Amino acid sequence: MDSSLRRLIEAATPLWAGEAELVRAYWSSPLRTLDTDLLWLKRQCFKEFWGSGVTRFDQGGIVPGSLRRLAEETANIDRSMDRHEFLDALEGVKAEFSHYTYFADVHDAIRPRGAPPLHPGMLEEWPEEKALTALRLRHREAHGALGMRACKTTEGGYCTLFSEGMKLAGRPGIDGLIAEACGKVYDDEFGHMLSGIAGIAEEGLGESDWSLLETLIVEQLKQRIRMRNAQFSYPLSEERVQAICRGDIEPLEFDYRRAKLAA
Ligand SMILES: [Fe+2]
Repeated sequence: MDSSLRRLIEAATPLWAGEAELVRAYWSSPLRTLDTDLLWLKRQCFKEFWGSGVTRFDQGGIVPGSLRRLAEETANIDRSMDRHEFLDALEGVKAEFSHYTYFADVHDAIRPRGAPPLHPGMLEEWPEEKALTALRLRHREAHGALGMRACKTTEGGYCTLFSEGMKLAGRPGIDGLIAEACGKVYDDEFGHMLSGIAGIAEEGLGESDWSLLETLIVEQLKQRIRMRNAQFSYPLSEERVQAICRGDIEPLEFDYRRAKLAA
Protein backbone atom coordinates (compact mmCIF):
# COMPACT_ATOMS: atom_id res chain seq x y z
CA MET A 1 0.00 0.00 0.00
CA ASP A 2 0.99 3.58 -0.61
CA SER A 3 3.45 4.74 2.03
CA SER A 4 2.13 8.32 2.00
CA LEU A 5 -1.35 7.03 2.78
CA ARG A 6 0.03 4.88 5.57
CA ARG A 7 1.79 7.91 7.05
CA LEU A 8 -1.45 9.88 6.87
CA ILE A 9 -3.37 7.14 8.69
CA GLU A 10 -0.61 6.88 11.29
CA ALA A 11 -0.92 10.59 11.99
CA ALA A 12 -4.64 10.13 12.63
CA THR A 13 -4.72 6.97 14.76
CA PRO A 14 -3.41 8.52 18.02
CA LEU A 15 -6.03 11.28 17.80
CA TRP A 16 -8.83 8.83 17.03
CA ALA A 17 -7.65 6.90 20.10
CA GLY A 18 -7.97 10.12 22.09
CA GLU A 19 -11.58 10.52 21.08
CA ALA A 20 -12.26 6.90 22.05
CA GLU A 21 -10.56 7.36 25.44
CA LEU A 22 -12.69 10.40 26.15
CA VAL A 23 -15.99 8.63 25.42
CA ARG A 24 -14.91 5.57 27.45
CA ALA A 25 -13.92 7.81 30.34
CA TYR A 26 -17.33 9.47 30.24
CA TRP A 27 -19.34 6.26 30.59
CA SER A 28 -17.84 5.53 34.00
CA SER A 29 -17.10 9.10 35.04
CA PRO A 30 -18.33 10.30 38.45
CA LEU A 31 -19.38 13.50 36.64
CA ARG A 32 -21.95 11.59 34.62
CA THR A 33 -25.58 12.32 35.52
CA LEU A 34 -28.95 12.14 33.78
CA ASP A 35 -28.47 15.82 32.89
CA THR A 36 -25.09 15.25 31.24
CA ASP A 37 -26.59 12.32 29.31
CA LEU A 38 -29.47 14.50 28.09
CA LEU A 39 -26.97 17.20 27.14
CA TRP A 40 -24.65 15.01 25.04
CA LEU A 41 -27.62 13.41 23.33
CA LYS A 42 -29.04 16.83 22.43
CA ARG A 43 -25.65 17.90 21.17
CA GLN A 44 -25.30 14.75 19.10
CA CYS A 45 -28.74 15.50 17.62
CA PHE A 46 -27.48 18.99 16.82
CA LYS A 47 -24.57 17.49 14.89
CA GLU A 48 -26.76 15.04 13.00
CA PHE A 49 -29.38 17.65 12.07
CA TRP A 50 -27.71 21.07 12.03
CA GLY A 51 -24.06 20.15 11.60
CA SER A 52 -22.21 21.27 8.48
CA GLY A 53 -18.83 21.44 6.85
CA VAL A 54 -18.45 17.90 5.53
CA THR A 55 -20.48 17.84 2.29
CA ARG A 56 -21.01 20.11 -0.71
CA PHE A 57 -24.62 20.86 0.19
CA ASP A 58 -24.82 21.06 3.96
CA GLN A 59 -24.41 24.74 4.79
CA GLY A 60 -27.41 25.77 6.85
CA GLY A 61 -27.49 22.32 8.44
CA ILE A 62 -26.92 18.85 7.07
CA VAL A 63 -30.65 18.06 6.98
CA PRO A 64 -32.39 21.42 6.32
CA GLY A 65 -29.56 22.97 4.29
CA SER A 66 -29.02 19.92 2.09
CA LEU A 67 -32.76 19.46 1.47
CA ARG A 68 -33.10 23.08 0.45
CA ARG A 69 -30.10 23.00 -1.85
CA LEU A 70 -31.02 19.65 -3.39
CA ALA A 71 -34.58 20.85 -4.05
CA GLU A 72 -33.08 23.77 -5.96
CA GLU A 73 -30.80 21.41 -7.91
CA THR A 74 -33.60 19.13 -9.19
CA ALA A 75 -33.91 21.28 -12.33
CA ASN A 76 -30.21 20.70 -13.04
CA ILE A 77 -30.15 16.91 -12.72
CA ASP A 78 -28.14 15.40 -15.58
CA ARG A 79 -27.23 18.83 -16.77
CA SER A 80 -24.90 20.53 -14.30
CA MET A 81 -25.80 18.04 -11.52
CA ASP A 82 -24.76 14.44 -12.06
CA ARG A 83 -27.58 12.01 -11.11
CA HIS A 84 -25.21 9.83 -9.08
CA GLU A 85 -23.97 12.77 -7.08
CA PHE A 86 -27.58 13.77 -6.42
CA LEU A 87 -28.48 10.24 -5.32
CA ASP A 88 -25.46 10.05 -3.00
CA ALA A 89 -26.39 13.38 -1.44
CA LEU A 90 -30.02 12.26 -0.91
CA GLU A 91 -28.84 9.04 0.72
CA GLY A 92 -26.51 11.06 2.90
CA VAL A 93 -29.35 13.25 4.13
CA LYS A 94 -31.50 10.22 4.87
CA ALA A 95 -28.66 8.64 6.85
CA GLU A 96 -28.04 11.77 8.92
CA PHE A 97 -31.74 12.23 9.61
CA SER A 98 -31.97 8.63 10.77
CA HIS A 99 -29.04 9.24 13.15
CA TYR A 100 -30.87 12.29 14.49
CA THR A 101 -33.94 10.11 15.01
CA TYR A 102 -32.09 7.37 16.93
CA PHE A 103 -30.45 9.78 19.38
CA ALA A 104 -33.59 11.91 19.76
CA ASP A 105 -35.51 8.72 20.63
CA VAL A 106 -32.99 7.89 23.38
CA HIS A 107 -33.25 11.45 24.70
CA ASP A 108 -37.03 11.28 24.81
CA ALA A 109 -37.04 7.84 26.41
CA ILE A 110 -34.85 8.94 29.34
CA ARG A 111 -36.08 12.51 29.87
CA PRO A 112 -37.63 13.18 33.25
CA ARG A 113 -41.38 13.26 33.54
CA GLY A 114 -42.68 16.68 32.45
CA ALA A 115 -39.56 17.62 30.45
CA PRO A 116 -40.37 18.54 26.83
CA PRO A 117 -39.59 16.10 24.01
CA LEU A 118 -36.75 17.02 21.70
CA HIS A 119 -37.21 18.96 18.47
CA PRO A 120 -34.61 20.48 16.13
CA GLY A 121 -35.47 24.05 17.12
CA MET A 122 -34.31 23.48 20.71
CA LEU A 123 -30.85 22.22 19.74
CA GLU A 124 -27.90 24.49 20.34
CA GLU A 125 -24.40 24.59 19.01
CA TRP A 126 -21.62 24.75 21.60
CA PRO A 127 -18.42 26.78 21.19
CA GLU A 128 -16.06 23.86 20.48
CA GLU A 129 -18.44 22.45 17.84
CA LYS A 130 -18.73 25.87 16.26
CA ALA A 131 -14.94 26.13 16.16
CA LEU A 132 -14.69 22.73 14.43
CA THR A 133 -17.19 23.74 11.74
CA ALA A 134 -15.43 27.07 11.22
CA LEU A 135 -12.08 25.28 10.91
CA ARG A 136 -13.47 22.86 8.31
CA LEU A 137 -15.00 25.67 6.27
CA ARG A 138 -11.70 27.57 6.44
CA HIS A 139 -9.83 24.52 5.19
CA ARG A 140 -12.28 24.11 2.32
CA GLU A 141 -12.09 27.74 1.34
CA ALA A 142 -8.33 27.86 1.46
CA HIS A 143 -7.56 24.43 -0.03
CA GLY A 144 -10.53 23.39 -2.21
CA ALA A 145 -10.72 19.67 -2.97
CA LEU A 146 -7.88 18.86 -0.57
CA GLY A 147 -9.70 20.71 2.22
CA MET A 148 -12.90 18.77 1.45
CA ARG A 149 -10.92 15.53 1.47
CA ALA A 150 -9.63 16.36 4.94
CA CYS A 151 -13.18 17.12 6.17
CA LYS A 152 -14.48 13.81 4.81
CA THR A 153 -11.64 11.89 6.40
CA THR A 154 -12.19 13.37 9.85
CA GLU A 155 -16.00 13.07 9.71
CA GLY A 156 -17.22 10.82 12.48
CA GLY A 157 -13.78 10.49 14.12
CA TYR A 158 -13.33 6.83 13.12
CA CYS A 159 -16.77 6.22 14.68
CA THR A 160 -15.25 6.08 18.14
CA LEU A 161 -18.37 7.48 19.85
CA PHE A 162 -20.42 4.75 18.22
CA SER A 163 -17.96 1.89 18.77
CA GLU A 164 -17.48 2.88 22.43
CA GLY A 165 -21.25 3.31 22.80
CA MET A 166 -21.84 -0.17 21.39
CA LYS A 167 -19.70 -1.60 24.19
CA LEU A 168 -22.46 -0.63 26.64
CA ALA A 169 -24.66 -3.37 25.13
CA GLY A 170 -26.28 -5.65 27.67
CA ARG A 171 -26.34 -3.06 30.42
CA PRO A 172 -29.76 -2.15 31.77
CA GLY A 173 -31.59 1.14 31.26
CA ILE A 174 -30.04 4.16 29.59
CA ASP A 175 -26.79 2.41 28.67
CA GLY A 176 -28.62 -0.32 26.74
CA LEU A 177 -30.55 2.32 24.78
CA ILE A 178 -27.34 4.20 23.97
CA ALA A 179 -25.69 0.97 22.80
CA GLU A 180 -28.59 0.22 20.49
CA ALA A 181 -28.60 3.71 18.93
CA CYS A 182 -24.81 3.67 18.48
CA GLY A 183 -24.96 0.25 16.84
CA LYS A 184 -27.46 1.51 14.28
CA VAL A 185 -25.27 4.49 13.37
CA TYR A 186 -21.89 2.73 13.38
CA ASP A 187 -21.95 1.11 9.95
CA ASP A 188 -23.17 4.23 8.13
CA GLU A 189 -20.56 6.44 9.69
CA PHE A 190 -17.75 3.98 9.12
CA GLY A 191 -18.73 4.06 5.46
CA HIS A 192 -18.62 7.86 5.42
CA MET A 193 -15.16 7.87 6.93
CA LEU A 194 -13.95 5.30 4.39
CA SER A 195 -15.33 7.37 1.53
CA GLY A 196 -12.96 10.11 2.69
CA ILE A 197 -9.98 7.78 2.53
CA ALA A 198 -10.94 5.67 -0.50
CA GLY A 199 -9.20 6.81 -3.60
CA ILE A 200 -6.75 9.24 -1.97
CA ALA A 201 -3.83 7.18 -3.18
CA GLU A 202 -5.14 7.24 -6.78
CA GLU A 203 -5.36 11.00 -6.92
CA GLY A 204 -1.71 11.39 -7.75
CA LEU A 205 -1.04 13.80 -4.90
CA GLY A 206 2.42 15.27 -4.75
CA GLU A 207 4.61 15.31 -1.65
CA SER A 208 3.46 18.78 -0.62
CA ASP A 209 -0.23 17.82 -1.05
CA TRP A 210 0.23 14.83 1.24
CA SER A 211 1.87 16.90 3.89
CA LEU A 212 -0.78 19.61 3.65
CA LEU A 213 -3.54 16.98 3.88
CA GLU A 214 -1.88 15.58 6.99
CA THR A 215 -1.64 19.03 8.56
CA LEU A 216 -5.33 19.72 7.89
CA ILE A 217 -6.46 16.33 9.19
CA VAL A 218 -4.38 16.57 12.35
CA GLU A 219 -5.67 20.07 13.04
CA GLN A 220 -9.28 18.94 12.58
CA LEU A 221 -8.84 15.82 14.72
CA LYS A 222 -7.35 17.84 17.57
CA GLN A 223 -10.35 20.17 17.43
CA ARG A 224 -12.65 17.13 17.36
CA ILE A 225 -11.23 16.03 20.74
CA ARG A 226 -12.09 19.45 22.17
CA MET A 227 -15.54 19.31 20.57
CA ARG A 228 -16.26 15.88 22.07
CA ASN A 229 -14.76 16.69 25.46
CA ALA A 230 -17.15 19.63 25.76
CA GLN A 231 -20.07 17.61 24.37
CA PHE A 232 -19.56 15.11 27.21
CA SER A 233 -19.06 17.70 29.97
CA TYR A 234 -15.25 17.36 30.06
CA PRO A 235 -14.47 13.79 31.12
CA LEU A 236 -10.81 14.53 30.27
CA SER A 237 -8.76 17.21 31.96
CA GLU A 238 -7.11 19.95 29.93
CA GLU A 239 -3.72 18.36 30.79
CA ARG A 240 -4.84 15.02 29.38
CA VAL A 241 -6.23 16.64 26.21
CA GLN A 242 -2.89 18.35 25.67
CA ALA A 243 -0.97 15.14 26.31
CA ILE A 244 -3.10 13.29 23.74
CA CYS A 245 -2.51 16.08 21.22
CA ARG A 246 1.25 15.70 21.82
CA GLY A 247 0.95 12.00 20.99
CA ASP A 248 1.13 10.58 24.52
CA ILE A 249 -1.35 7.79 23.77
CA GLU A 250 -1.45 4.27 22.32
CA PRO A 251 -2.72 4.71 18.73
CA LEU A 252 -5.97 3.11 17.71
CA GLU A 253 -5.63 0.10 15.44
CA PHE A 254 -6.77 1.07 11.95
CA ASP A 255 -8.80 -1.64 10.22
CA TYR A 256 -6.98 -1.81 6.88
CA ARG A 257 -8.99 -4.86 5.81
CA ARG A 258 -12.31 -3.16 6.33
CA ALA A 259 -11.02 -0.04 4.61
CA LYS A 260 -10.08 -2.32 1.69
CA LEU A 261 -6.51 -1.07 1.87
CA ALA A 262 -3.89 -3.78 1.82
CA ALA A 263 -1.91 -3.70 5.06
FE1 LIG B 1 -24.41 10.97 11.37
